[in-house]
Amino acid sequence: MTPGQQQPASQRQRVDPYVGQYAERAVGMVASEIRALFAVAARPEIVSLAGGSPYVAALPLDAVGDMVGQLIASRGESALQYCTAQGDAGLRERICAVMALEEIPAHPDEIVVTVGSQQALDLLARIFIDPGDVILAEAPSYVGALGAFAAYQASVVHVAMDDDGLIPEALEEAIRQTAAAGRRAKFLYTVPNFHNPAGVTLAAGRRHRILGICQREGLLVVEDNPYGLLGFDGEPMRALRADDDEGVVYLGTFSKTFAAGVRVGWAVAPPAIRDKLILAAESAVLCHSSFAQLTVREYLTTQPWQEQIKTFRELYRERRDATLSALSRMMPPGCHWTRPAGGFYVWLRLPDGVNAKTMLPRAISSRVAYVPGTGFYADGSGGRHARLCYSFPEPARISEGVRRLASVIQTEIQLRDDFGPAAETP
Ligand SMILES: Cc1ncc(COP(=O)(O)O)c(C=O)c1O
Repeated sequence: MTPGQQQPASQRQRVDPYVGQYAERAVGMVASEIRALFAVAARPEIVSLAGGSPYVAALPLDAVGDMVGQLIASRGESALQYCTAQGDAGLRERICAVMALEEIPAHPDEIVVTVGSQQALDLLARIFIDPGDVILAEAPSYVGALGAFAAYQASVVHVAMDDDGLIPEALEEAIRQTAAAGRRAKFLYTVPNFHNPAGVTLAAGRRHRILGICQREGLLVVEDNPYGLLGFDGEPMRALRADDDEGVVYLGTFSKTFAAGVRVGWAVAPPAIRDKLILAAESAVLCHSSFAQLTVREYLTTQPWQEQIKTFRELYRERRDATLSALSRMMPPGCHWTRPAGGFYVWLRLPDGVNAKTMLPRAISSRVAYVPGTGFYADGSGGRHARLCYSFPEPARISEGVRRLASVIQTEIQLRDDFGPAAETP
């Protein structure tokens, strides 16, 4: 530090003088497991199987750059101006064409553009959740959704999954238990395709049953589907929203099929919910970035976006294969993992008495990072699991990362056998 230069605030303040002044909901706002990991995992010597970043280097960056330049030159006056909170009408039209790939019949009027699907989750939480309200969510669930629900002080009740996704009987049981406690869940949050973090997909035969249960109970479904077009085998699965436009709010995003950095996603909702979402978006941000929206609209109009999705699919398939092959060659006995048919994630179950959270510092020392399962449960359980994300590292790095991880797990097994099992994280 040169004389006269101030220390950054983060280093100066050890005690927060405003700690007694925050709103109650801010108490539930804590850094996610992933956020804490990002800084460490970004170091070049570490193979990161942690963060879920898409491999945007596979985009034709020069072509996208030219496209953005032309957009500003030809339509800068609208790209650099405010727009409506519902979002650009031309983009909403093109979003309908994207959703048609998953057989979702939608009209541009039903769509609200959001800042990634993360903002849609926040807006839904904002309009539906009062403190203590029950939300049903898969066990495990996407950490960002849990964060959004926690920010509005929801009480999340997890519903079990198996290799075919959400278990209908477990959903019925969760609804029954919620009712027995004198409560009614506000909605069911589900990621039916290539689940984050579990890597599983809701089986076709279960989709009608889940919808039937929710319709019978009058339970709104929030269908979060960032990975639906990134399946490795066959055609995309039929969305829940395709069979129920009254009881399902569908969330989509361009983060994984185009670019996460443009921060453009959307929600499709029944008219009354759509209107509330627009009002909530207006009070949050006035309107979303016109520049980002017109960039996506231009991309969908002038670039071979369906071909690009195929490129992404092939790339991620190769990385999924590298992951599964390395796991089956190297993992010690007692480890189990899911076999994703698309998306970014494998959910690894560790042997008895081995805890992913307590093991993490040793994994980082061995230069491999993952996300402990505890981040994906509202109650902090899930210590037996780790999420491995294969979207970003090249296949050879994935194999090396799995090799390092297998060796760390082997050491944990040895420690367990010598000193007893690791304590369960609360
Ligand atoms: C299941 C799920 N939902 C929502 C999001 C948020 O994505 P974005 O805000 O980039 O659209 C992610 C990101 O990884 C995700 O995996």
